[in-house]
Amino acid sequence: MHLRRIILDTYEDVCRAAADVYTKQLEEKSNSVFCFATGSTPIGLYEELVRRYEAGNLDFSKARSFNLDEYYPIKKDHPQSYNYFMRQNLFDKINLSKYSLPNGEASDAEAECLRYDMEISDAGGIDLMLLGIGHNGHIGFNEPAVSYPMGTSFVKLTESSINANSRFFSADEVQPTEALTMGIGEIMRSKKIIMMITGEGKAEIAMKLFERKIHSDVPACFVKLHPNAIVFLDRAAARDILVFEENLKKERIKAVQEWTGLRG
Ligand code: GLP
Repeated sequence: MHLRRIILDTYEDVCRAAADVYTKQLEEKSNSVFCFATGSTPIGLYEELVRRYEAGNLDFSKARSFNLDEYYPIKKDHPQSYNYFMRQNLFDKINLSKYSLPNGEASDAEAECLRYDMEISDAGGIDLMLLGIGHNGHIGFNEPAVSYPMGTSFVKLTESSINANSRFFSADEVQPTEALTMGIGEIMRSKKIIMMITGEGKAEIAMKLFERKIHSDVPACFVKLHPNAIVFLDRAAARDILVFEENLKKERIKAVQEWTGLRG
């Protein structure tokens, strides 16, 4: 059983391929329920979706969306909140009927997690889930751990994620160290999953994801168990995978040559 993947030349190619999935999804089900992700990886995809919408080739009017995660606590209008990010990059630019994110302003984080799960379940679950991947293999803010939550949960971020995201916060801003994230169970219940992995910085974690193993400390490995998941990578992120597979091929050829040589 292999996790399906498509390796494309550039970041732009990955964004276009991912956008094609949305085009197809909306053709098949105009009232699809999406789950979007944040981070720098999907920005090009969002730009492509906006372009297609503006060109009249995409209509989100019957669709609605959720998002994977949100810092906690954080104001919706904080420039680093995921709510703000999504409005700036996508929601304010397309005609989505409704969007929801975990509420970083809720007074009770645990109660907010339960409320968010109910909202997702009332919407009928997620049709198409978009995932990025953290350098440590996190999806959403499900950080490497011994056990993983089924539903939305209130989590502490790891040093790795805090550092990776610190580039977005200025020195005088207090960077949140906790977040609300959709759980692994909810992610896995999505009907389809697409994951985008781009850039050389993700080459190592991409390699780990495609090893023929389930690493318990790489939350993204759960996606390998999903029946309808696909990963889009650019060549930079696929660097180690391509080197590994090239070496494997050479070894096989050598082994066959040695064997036929022995017999000759
Ligand atoms: C954040 C988000 C993840 C995202 C990850 C990778 O931590 N919670 O959903 O996948 O960052 O971000 P980037 O695409 O910037 O590498």
